[in-house]
Amino acid sequence: MKVCVIGAGYVGLVTGACLAGMGNKVICVDNNKEKIDLLKKGKIPIYEPGLKELVKKTMQKKFLYFTTDIKDGVTNSEIIFIAVNTPPRKNGEADLCYVEAVSREVAQQMKSYKVIVSKSTVPVETGKKIAQTVKIYNKQKVSFDIASNPEFLREGSAIGDFMHPDRIVIGVNSKKAETIMKKLYKPLGAPIIVTDIESAEIIKHAANSFLAMKISYINAVANICERVGADVTQVARGMGLDRRIGAEFLSAGVGFGGSCFPKDLSAFIRIAEKNGYNFELLKVVKKINQEQKNLLLKKLTRAIWNLKDKTIGILGLAFKSNTDDLRNAPAISIIEMLQKEGARIKVYDPQAMEKAKKILKNVIFCKDLYLTAQDSDALVILTEWNEFKKLDFKKIKKKLKTPVIIDGRNMYNPALMRKQGFTYEGIGTK
Ligand code: UDX
Ligand code: UDX
Repeated sequence: MKVCVIGAGYVGLVTGACLAGMGNKVICVDNNKEKIDLLKKGKIPIYEPGLKELVKKTMQKKFLYFTTDIKDGVTNSEIIFIAVNTPPRKNGEADLCYVEAVSREVAQQMKSYKVIVSKSTVPVETGKKIAQTVKIYNKQKVSFDIASNPEFLREGSAIGDFMHPDRIVIGVNSKKAETIMKKLYKPLGAPIIVTDIESAEIIKHAANSFLAMKISYINAVANICERVGADVTQVARGMGLDRRIGAEFLSAGVGFGGSCFPKDLSAFIRIAEKNGYNFELLKVVKKINQEQKNLLLKKLTRAIWNLKDKTIGILGLAFKSNTDDLRNAPAISIIEMLQKEGARIKVYDPQAMEKAKKILKNVIFCKDLYLTAQDSDALVILTEWNEFKKLDFKKIKKKLKTPVIIDGRNMYNPALMRKQGFTYEGIGTK
């Protein structure tokens, strides 16, 4: 099928490359010329396992093209995905000006029937607004349909998530659009849920907010575990084996970050507010998430007393492993909190160092993780990278000024760590 994806960011690029990998002709459009020039050379501006290879392969087979020219994309496709960013405003609401701008441009270029699909996470009723905009600027009165097809990709495993989804959600209000969208996704063999557009839009916010709630829930349970000497990892295992609960998203830690959960949570709260409902449950989910970051600071203070002029080594900056993404990464706010207290900061991350250099100030960037421990008063783990699972603790202990490890991701066995002579604290563990 002929597909155009507008916005070659995390979501758009993965969507475009995967659809091309399935044998569709895909044109990815982005108004960032620098980005498109890089992509045309087969260079990927983000780190996502497998993406570089997939882009290269599909470009060579001429299934995937890149352009800054929206006209080119619209003219040569029947399905148009909108995957531009929808950044949060100060009040939590999603800023939809790019979605509107793109809808307008698409409308101006249409010469034959199109299905215009919103892939970006948008508040409910955006589909209606896109339809209104397209109607206004569609001077040639070309027929079109609007669809909502939310993405559920996780950074770090985005290609696998796209190719083997639990479900595909398609919100439509026409049979023609339903048939086209079903045909596009049929090869994946996944369950396809067809709903009205508004329900599809809500599914995305409701699903992400639910997952965020699961994390805050287990973090709240972790707080109780700490107080009574229970172990949250065991509690989570015992809960998660109940199929009604499910084992995933029950890892206690430093809290959730990333470009989606914090933003979608705020957006969903705001959508509720605008429609006259006070979604207090989600407000508490946000509060608990913030408190987890403060908790880390408390643990550090308990272990090494004052933070002023102490050196803290930070392992992990990305908001989770297998990505170089720092958007809303707990590490960034924790480092800023530590700096406010007067601590010196040394950092290491296997992938996110380049991006971090543009964000963090007055920080020592270490070439390897052991240098981060060198002469530090404590080591703090903030991302669950595989590389951190097999540390040489003897070496680390020798390098640290005091053998203190605060583990914001519960990566190690507390009893073993203490046996090796560390002052060790996880989150909700004994
Ligand atoms: C974005 C949204 O933030 C998210 O809510 C949604 O679910 C999917 O799209 P992401 O792909 O991570 O997520 O955004 P980003 O990496 O910022 O990419 C957006 C791309 O759109 C950028 O490359 C930007 O240059 C491009 N863009 C933006 C356009 O091509 N045209 C525009 O008018 C605006
Ligand atoms: C999320 C959704 O999972 C995905 O469906 C949606 O399309 C985009 O948002 P992503 O933000 O890439 O994906 O990462 P995810 O794996 O969901 O993790 C989000 C945050 O929660 C990370 O900071 C992660 O460390 C944290 N997390 C996750 C926990 O703290 N505990 C857990 O048990 C799981």
